[in-house]
Amino acid sequence: MEKNQRFTITSALPYTNGPIHIGHLAGAYLPADIYARYKRLCENDVAFICGSDEHGVAISIKAKQEGSSVKSIIDKYHNLIKDTFQEFGISFDNYSRTSNAIHHETSKQFFRKLDQDNCFEIKNTQQLYDENEEQFLADRFIEGECPKCGFEKAYGDQCENCGASLSPDDLINPKSKLSGSKPVLKETKHWYLPLGNYEDFLNKWIIEGKKGIWKPNVYGQVKSWIDQGLESRAISRDLDWGIPIPRDDAKGKVMYVWFDAPIGYISSTKEWAKRESKNWEDYWKKSDTKLIHFIGKDNIVFHCIIFPSILEAHGEFILPENVPANEFLNLEGRKISTSNNWAIWLHEYLNDFKDMQDSLRYTLTVNSPESKDNDFTWKDFQSRNNNELVAILGNYINRVFILTEKYFNNVVPKYEEIDSNQIIKIYDYVSLISSSLDKFKFRDAVNHLIDLARTGNKYLADKEPWKLYKENNIKEVEQILYISLETCALISILSEPFIPNSAKKIRDIMDINLVNWTRLKSTNQIIQPGHKIKKSNLIFRKIEDDEIENQLRKLNSNIKG
Ligand code: 2FM
Ligand code: ZN
Repeated sequence: MEKNQRFTITSALPYTNGPIHIGHLAGAYLPADIYARYKRLCENDVAFICGSDEHGVAISIKAKQEGSSVKSIIDKYHNLIKDTFQEFGISFDNYSRTSNAIHHETSKQFFRKLDQDNCFEIKNTQQLYDENEEQFLADRFIEGECPKCGFEKAYGDQCENCGASLSPDDLINPKSKLSGSKPVLKETKHWYLPLGNYEDFLNKWIIEGKKGIWKPNVYGQVKSWIDQGLESRAISRDLDWGIPIPRDDAKGKVMYVWFDAPIGYISSTKEWAKRESKNWEDYWKKSDTKLIHFIGKDNIVFHCIIFPSILEAHGEFILPENVPANEFLNLEGRKISTSNNWAIWLHEYLNDFKDMQDSLRYTLTVNSPESKDNDFTWKDFQSRNNNELVAILGNYINRVFILTEKYFNNVVPKYEEIDSNQIIKIYDYVSLISSSLDKFKFRDAVNHLIDLARTGNKYLADKEPWKLYKENNIKEVEQILYISLETCALISILSEPFIPNSAKKIRDIMDINLVNWTRLKSTNQIIQPGHKIKKSNLIFRKIEDDEIENQLRKLNSNIKG
């Protein structure tokens, strides 16, 4: 368990073209939050950074679909997403947005530096153009028949029906989504990042340097990209929404959203540092800072190949220490689809399950798509909540509190001799949980937490303090209850990264403060004899069958409608 280490922890900036769903939370936000909370509890210096990704074609399309301005779309979803993260306890140190001036300035500085150092290639190419609208068409603005499955509304880059990845000239009868006219080819000039120049650097840094260190799913994907050979990527676009390319000969051109979005991590850090009187450069330029990017697997190429190449080209920045990308979370056996409304929207969950953020946090962690795609089902959610949170963790804590009230009027009992076996056993969980978290094994970590409650439960069942009490063997009852209360206190501290609201509820009942994990030692207990705890309240509630049936009905009606 390292301490006094500086961490820059980032979560992928979500696009503000719609609300966020459980797949987003499970992929890039919940694991990052657990990790950031854990690292803070170990007395590290943490900057946990995120913000809204407000550029890109998807946002212009959404504005056109909703018949409103881009500004009102980004404001609407930025606020909704920001509030949702806050409700779920995602403890960002800063949540910025890429439309902020600080981000435009930072992105332009990056472009200028790379431009001055001749890191770009400038090329003229033929691209599809809408003559009616007098506009070049991004792939997403072109629609036509999919050559693979015949679906009539395939996009220029992908068919949403069969999943084929396409390029605009693959489409049969391509049409502009803007005017419906047939696009024509027209010459345009763009700035390219010649990724081929970075192959040696990437081979050394990742393929040689991160083998066995990065998660196999991430390492494997990066290796296969590099092995195929990297082509130059255009980092400019002919669009009216985005950050203008800061050159006189680039009128009407903006940065490609994937050029500016990751720079958003840096601008968001700058915003935070200014507010907190810190030096942002410590978090991005000091070689002893650990930079960790939490993302979903569709973002791997951008965070492991393109952004590091940009940072390398710039020359003053550190590279990510790790990119623990998650696989995808499916829903009831199908791929989550925002266009088909096959999703669980987090703002709707918050309405339907009031004050039950931790139930979802727990389920998404224990069933996290860490190394392979996973499935979320409402039935599993119900059974994880009822059989694990309620029946194991909540029940154990409640039992201990009730016994303490009954036998000792809520006062932590004194003990003559501590049961050293049991105290060592429960404190073993500190290293079990922290070493799992250090390895980004969130499922293992949260399973250890439940095991700690199981261990406490077994101890009570084996020792049967209720029998000893009847036999008037009070000294032993004191010893057993003391250790049991210490176990509850330990649970309230070790559960903080995973289920922070419930952890706080337990601490409030016990009237104790959060303790840094670096201070958790079997010889240095959390609670002291004589301390008075408060009257207990249930920490978790059971989820009934009809609540689950309602959710399934709602989901199924979405897809049919
Ligand atoms: O895939 C996405 O949702 C992107 N908006 C992620 C951007 S991550 C970063 F680079 F900002
Ligand atoms: Zn298709």
